[in-house]
Amino acid sequence: MTGFFTEENSSQTVNARMQDDINPRLKTVMAAMVKHLHAFVKEVDLTEEEWRTAITFLTNTGQICSNERQEYILLSDVLGVSMLVDAINNRRPSGATENTVLGPFHVKEAPVREMGDNISLDGKGESCLFTGRVLDLNGAAIKGATIDVWSDNADGCYDVQQPDNQPKWNNRGIFITGADGTYSFVGIKPVSYPIPDDGTVGKMLAALGRHPYRPAHTHFMVTAPGYQKLVTHTFVGDDPYLTSDTVFGVKETLFAPFERSKDGATQWRSWFDFVLADEA
Ligand code: BEZ
Ligand code: FE
Repeated sequence: MTGFFTEENSSQTVNARMQDDINPRLKTVMAAMVKHLHAFVKEVDLTEEEWRTAITFLTNTGQICSNERQEYILLSDVLGVSMLVDAINNRRPSGATENTVLGPFHVKEAPVREMGDNISLDGKGESCLFTGRVLDLNGAAIKGATIDVWSDNADGCYDVQQPDNQPKWNNRGIFITGADGTYSFVGIKPVSYPIPDDGTVGKMLAALGRHPYRPAHTHFMVTAPGYQKLVTHTFVGDDPYLTSDTVFGVKETLFAPFERSKDGATQWRSWFDFVLADEA
């Protein structure tokens, strides 16, 4: 008789149980997952105690998840999987602005604001005028592009993390470009902050000797009909965490200048042009 499970043939035996008439993509993905999972278990000679620890870790990770908290996405982020999936799915021609991780703090349907408006509603932090253009790959202005912006406040927290301490929609807003493709708004020079580290992901980072910090950044989601959706950040180029972002989201092309608006002035000025690739 054949088909019995052995250490040697483990993944082939499991994969052979899948029927031929199932969804072909499911079959491809599951077969590769089982193959690599079994190879990993064999490579490290996984002990029963380690297997139990992993099950407890996954159980606890699931138990922390709620509508407001997605610990599995955070796990994917700190393992570099989110950025890898993002890279594979957002290959763009050179010259187009690169994507980076969305993160858990985007909120749909932020208020639409007028160009030049101030989105820092708590009055904290170092004021910064953000300006730039939304362009196509030929350098032409894109009219009617939607720029959805979100940022932490000066204490390193998003409004949704502190609903009792921050005004609703603090450091958020949607701006729509006119015919010249330009945008401008007032926000704050962002600060670095730790990702939520009071759960299983935080414990794992600590056990690995990793810090939970992200370098200072401002989030942008830029969309326009006929163009690929852009989910990105701009980074403050001298942040100490740029080379050790806990979610691997930094790309050198996304560093934006931050300068004092005038000699001795307290307000900062930052500028960045977003270049959208045509829809495939
Ligand atoms: C963020 O930049 O908002 C973020 C990204 C990934 C995980 C946690 C936070
Ligand atoms: Fe962020």
